Amino acid sequence: MNARMQEQAPGRDGPASEVNAYDTAYRHRWRVEDLPWHQLDAQAARANEDFFYLVVCASFIESGSDLYTRNLIDYYAGDPEVEGWLRERWEHEELQHGRALRTYVERVWPEFDWATAFKGFFSDYGRICSPDELEPTRARELVARCVVETGTTAYYRALSDAAPEPVLKQLAAQISKDEVNHFKHFLNYYQLYREREGAGRWVVLRALMQRLLELRDDDAECAIRHAWAGRQPARVHDKAAAAEVQQRMNRMVRRHLPVQLAINMLMKPLRLPRLLQSWLERPLVFVVNRVVLRD
Ligand SMILES: [Fe+2]
Ligand SMILES: [Fe+2]
Repeated sequence: MNARMQEQAPGRDGPASEVNAYDTAYRHRWRVEDLPWHQLDAQAARANEDFFYLVVCASFIESGSDLYTRNLIDYYAGDPEVEGWLRERWEHEELQHGRALRTYVERVWPEFDWATAFKGFFSDYGRICSPDELEPTRARELVARCVVETGTTAYYRALSDAAPEPVLKQLAAQISKDEVNHFKHFLNYYQLYREREGAGRWVVLRALMQRLLELRDDDAECAIRHAWAGRQPARVHDKAAAAEVQQRMNRMVRRHLPVQLAINMLMKPLRLPRLLQSWLERPLVFVVNRVVLRD
């Protein structure tokens, strides 16, 4: 299993080769049981409570992916390629991320009742994941999905870098690789819809910036609230303490965030000439940092 990713953003060789590469990779899918669980150093993972929240929150959001998938499948109804990929691969892989992270949580923090905490999260999360959240056109929704997959790629890359023990390091690196592949697929579909819908660059840039600024807020807040409630039932109403946990998580991610990789990925849907790219890079770095620095 390759624990590191290339700094180069995906997309150099064009959509067709990317999807073919993805299909080849898919035949060699990893499985939760193939992770080197015998190397697990639970003591090292437990030494820093921040990792509990970083892993649990990710496990909740990934395990709730089918809520998003259903909305997206409905949105792309009549397009068998997109619909089929979402249903047969994307949903399956996101749920596998959830299963792997849950397994990790249950092995490292067996006293935490994951199933009960997740039940509470899922019920709240269902209210957030409404079809109203989708962008007004299919092309713009695909841009938004590219932003989300960039965010997850960067998050797991940061988690892998920061991880205090080998299994989490490998697991996060593997998930990050999958998220890059999801990005490639959404980018490929976006390119098809851009031609069909004629989405202009500035419309795309606006959709991209908007989604970037919206990243994390609701999902992360919901996940942290339920992770906190399950971990600290006696202090469930202590909002200040829960907010402090969130700040510590943000600081950890910020320290390890692959900013340049995220910027390179975010630039892809814009297809800008080199000069404009360098002009846009600074404001994008600023926005990416703002998203992570927000406490
Ligand atoms: Fe995922
Ligand atoms: Fe993904």
